[in-house]
Amino acid sequence: MDMKILVVGGGGREHAITTALSRNTDTGIYAVMAKSNPGIARIARKVLNVKETQVAPIRDFALENGIDLAVIGPEAPLEAGIVDALEGAGIGCVGPTRAAARLETDKAFCRTMMERHGIAGCPQYRVFHGADDAVAFVRDTDRDLAIKPIGLTGGKGVRIMGEHVDTAGAVAYIREIGGDVVLEERLIGEEFTLQAFVDGRHIVPMPLVQDHKRAYTGDEGPNTGGMGSYSLADHRLPFVTERDYEKAFRIMQDAVAAMAAEGVPYRGILYGQFMNTAQGPKVIEFNARFGDPEAMNVLSLLTSDFSGMVCRMTEGTLTPGQVSFAPKATVCKYVVPAGYPEKPHAGDPIRIGDTGDALVYYANVVEEQGVLYTQTSRSLALVGLGDTLAEAEQITERAATAISGNIRHRSDIGTQAVLDRRCAHMRSLR
Ligand code: AMP
Ligand code: GLY
Repeated sequence: MDMKILVVGGGGREHAITTALSRNTDTGIYAVMAKSNPGIARIARKVLNVKETQVAPIRDFALENGIDLAVIGPEAPLEAGIVDALEGAGIGCVGPTRAAARLETDKAFCRTMMERHGIAGCPQYRVFHGADDAVAFVRDTDRDLAIKPIGLTGGKGVRIMGEHVDTAGAVAYIREIGGDVVLEERLIGEEFTLQAFVDGRHIVPMPLVQDHKRAYTGDEGPNTGGMGSYSLADHRLPFVTERDYEKAFRIMQDAVAAMAAEGVPYRGILYGQFMNTAQGPKVIEFNARFGDPEAMNVLSLLTSDFSGMVCRMTEGTLTPGQVSFAPKATVCKYVVPAGYPEKPHAGDPIRIGDTGDALVYYANVVEEQGVLYTQTSRSLALVGLGDTLAEAEQITERAATAISGNIRHRSDIGTQAVLDRRCAHMRSLR
């Protein structure tokens, strides 16, 4: 049966989503994106180029084209109420309503919700609505804090004392962002990502992934949207024990149950970002969507029919038996414009050479007369799959070096040396 699925968003994550959906040849893909991602445009039957937060024209486009279901990639349209509008027009969505998306879009809501329901893994935190009070708190405490603007910041808004800023820098930053802020204890450990498909009631986990936020090799430099990520063939990570994993999954289940109990049932992709500490996993944040880059790791491994899963998620009938992933390791590396993230150089031509067995996902690039040009955000992602991490890393690294232009990537992501360092760090904490 022919099914029409609308995908909202134009990044690497959404290219991975459309690629996964298109493996079902009965699925017709329609796309909405601000700028035309050449990879998505090649797959889609029809494209609407408007900002992803323009809810009314997107709903009209969906109705005119007889769309059955929609998958929402980024967080901004969720916050703009796109799911409320599409569901109001009878179109089932993979993505939470605006109210349920507050799990991501309002960091104060996320923390108070966890506290109200006694959900494990919540760091000590305080919410402030005023710079003077927040500044006084920072000056009074002798502990390092994480400073988090309450609203969306594209993954670049958090400052960690002792890592990015000292006390004076923290004070200046709170004044700069205006004082609507969550201050929480600085967590020490190793980060990991657990994503899950949620149909409103059931929650089905995906393989664990580790992202790399820092701009430069060796985890140096400012935070970015994510420079790359890896996963292992057993779908776990060696610095996350079975007990840690079970705790983290339980936290996700409890969050879904809590949202339902609050009358805002959660449907969509739930992304849990955890810090594995000496005391086990703590929640850094929840996101109301796939991670970018983590979507590219897991969706490249998905062996079950994603279109069918999307259908069952909107019906509330998803079961673990309907979801399967190849037992392979993945490494994803983003190629980014020179100067990214602080002073990205846009408008430079890039050429894709021989990328071998790697999957190529387009992100923030435009194509003019057959030539690709960089924009201000991440350009292309390369994903290698292998029986071992080393095999996957080599496929990806070779492909990344086959991209030429005024660009760079992190060559260390997915290497054994980095994995060994993560494991040694975790051992030193326990
Ligand atoms: P977020 O925007 O919440 O994803 O945070 C961006 C990055 O800041 C995370 O990937 C972590 O590396 C770091 N971070 C956030 N919260 C904390 C915390 N409480 N302690 C330590 N690091 C944190
Ligand atoms: N990879 C982090 C994020 O998507 O927020």
